[in-house]
Amino acid sequence: MAYARIEIAPSILASNFSKLGDEVRAVTEGGADVLHVDVMDGMFVPNISIGIPVVQSLRKATQLPLDVHLMIVRPELYIDGFVRAGANRVIVHQEATPHLDRALAMIREAGAEAGVAINPATPVAMLGEVLDKVDSVLVMSVNPGFGGQKFIPSAIEKIKQLNQWRGRYNGAFRIGVDGGVEAGNIGELAQAGANTFVAGTSIFHTPDPIAATRHLRKLAVDAISQRV
Ligand code: DX5
Ligand code: ZN
Repeated sequence: MAYARIEIAPSILASNFSKLGDEVRAVTEGGADVLHVDVMDGMFVPNISIGIPVVQSLRKATQLPLDVHLMIVRPELYIDGFVRAGANRVIVHQEATPHLDRALAMIREAGAEAGVAINPATPVAMLGEVLDKVDSVLVMSVNPGFGGQKFIPSAIEKIKQLNQWRGRYNGAFRIGVDGGVEAGNIGELAQAGANTFVAGTSIFHTPDPIAATRHLRKLAVDAISQRV
């Protein structure tokens, strides 16, 4: 089975927003493949972050693809707006809408890649009916809402399960992992089958985000080359 190339996706939630342009340039120089943008509404998760205007600004400031991770209730209401603002991929939570199938179709119709995320307490089986309708699955390895949390190891089994199912779809969807991703676990996550690695703290809260991005990328690539 052909695996998609790996993606390092720095999460700007952990960046210094007063110099966001510099932060984006740094991770770009470090080889970041996409930027991960965390949108929180204070309802689906107990925190509020950023929204459409920031995606618009980022779109003007970078060529990197923008992954917009919607941690909001009623995501259907905002899909078009985020795609028009410049999102290349929109990720909605399985838990956030009773109309997941419709939300995913709306993302594709708007012209972006459709992603679905699952919280740590949600089994991968909940995605059984939509795996042929998504471009990526994002396995949350922390309870969403905040950066800098500890990695929850049960994510690894979920990635392995998805990786097995992915065979049936000819590798048609990416498997991402989000939360607590760092140098000490990225290799194992890559070997389990993940190929998009969202990392906030382990990139931006280091003295050298350029080197941190590069290092994570190398560890993931090395681990995948050992995957059988
Ligand atoms: C959590 C967000 C993550 C977060 C990851 O709700 O979805 O993208 O920024 O941050 P770290 O890498 O610090 O766990
Ligand atoms: Zn995220």
